Amino acid sequence: MAVSIRCFFMAITLLAFAPLSLCHKGYGGGGGSSLYPQYYEKSCPRALEIVRFEVAKAVAKEARMAASLLRLAFHDCFVQGCDASILLDSGNGITSEKNSNPNRKSARGFNVIDDIKAALEKECPHTVSCADIMQLAARDSTHLSGGPFWEVPLGRKDSRSASLSGSNNNIPAPNNTFQTILTKFKRQGLDLVDLVALSGSHTIGNSRCTSFRQRLYNQSGNSKPDSTLDQYYAAQLRNRCPRSGGDQNLFFLDFVSPKKFDNSYFKLLLANKGLLNSDQVLTTKSEASLQLVKAYAENNELFLQHFASSMIKMANISPLTGSKGEIRKNCRKINS
Ligand code: HEM
Ligand SMILES: *[C@@H]1O[C@H](CO)[C@@H](O)[C@H](O)[C@H]1NC(C)=O
Ligand SMILES: *[C@@H]1O[C@H](CO)[C@@H](O)[C@H](O)[C@H]1NC(C)=O
Repeated sequence: MAVSIRCFFMAITLLAFAPLSLCHKGYGGGGGSSLYPQYYEKSCPRALEIVRFEVAKAVAKEARMAASLLRLAFHDCFVQGCDASILLDSGNGITSEKNSNPNRKSARGFNVIDDIKAALEKECPHTVSCADIMQLAARDSTHLSGGPFWEVPLGRKDSRSASLSGSNNNIPAPNNTFQTILTKFKRQGLDLVDLVALSGSHTIGNSRCTSFRQRLYNQSGNSKPDSTLDQYYAAQLRNRCPRSGGDQNLFFLDFVSPKKFDNSYFKLLLANKGLLNSDQVLTTKSEASLQLVKAYAENNELFLQHFASSMIKMANISPLTGSKGEIRKNCRKINS
């Protein structure tokens, strides 16, 4: 259903630009893998309720936590697949992904995952994987922020390894070119629609100054700001993101509605007010990408539908299933 709606809209909004490949099938029901939404129905019937309760508690305490949990799911799936490798701490032969360039001083929400896991271990010990918890937490975070709801196919196992180099190399950087970012998505089996729709995550949450400073002062090594950035917005940003210092100062990715999961991010891109270079290139480097941004800016429902189906697709990247992997007792450590 989601797939056919998506293709219908693609057909009418993108007729002029869409190669047929834009319309290819997502993993609507976890098809192509053995994941399915009812996986814990018998073994832990209250699992989904418990995850939602814990996420709601954390988001009520701090709205940004929804963004942080959503991002964790992305940074997990792009490294060895959606296997909770990002949650492992260093030690016992593990070099943690938490120290990678994309994650260091940036990835957060690990304590919330610990709380969810603790609540689940109490209810049904050694049953619900950390990898599934992360995908459910991402879904609940999106929904609680005003975004779409979708059923999450379940049954992932947790890895017994992490990959620091995978984290450094596979996760796109904010200063990567459009082509590099698209290539990194394609390597995970994701396409342009997934890239643009999932970038819409930046409708919530924050970025540090260090992630976009280059755009404000020296975009192309010519001591000039990025010409694709609105100059008044750039001047505002320079106030709290100086040439040097203030690296950790925080900025909303979508300053219009930073806590609401909606399409205002895409409207900002069309106004040259994307915060990250990787946001703005979605409108400046590819006609097909620009048409998607316009379609989402005009039609919130279309964005929310595509977002949900792309999240299901992302959550289906190389899951460990059956006898592969394990169900960790503590999300930070492999079982001994
Ligand atoms: C397309 C390539 C992407 C790039 C280059 C990128 C890069 C970034 C960067 C640099 C930040 C700010 C980090 C910081 O300064 O601490 C950020 C934040 C964020 N990203 Fe992305 N991102 C991308 C795609 C995605 C995707 C696919 C998702 C989720 C499905 C996502 C979700 C988020 C969220 C929710 C935040 C805010 C996190 C918070 O406030 O804690 N991003 N991203
Ligand atoms: C991107 O940013 C990283 C980290 O700040 C830096 O090491 C790298 O040189 C930058 N790459 C480009 C192409 O500007
Ligand atoms: C701007 O970037 C270029 C190339 O990365 C570098 O050589 C130059 O020193 C930088 N200029 C300033 C003022 O930071």
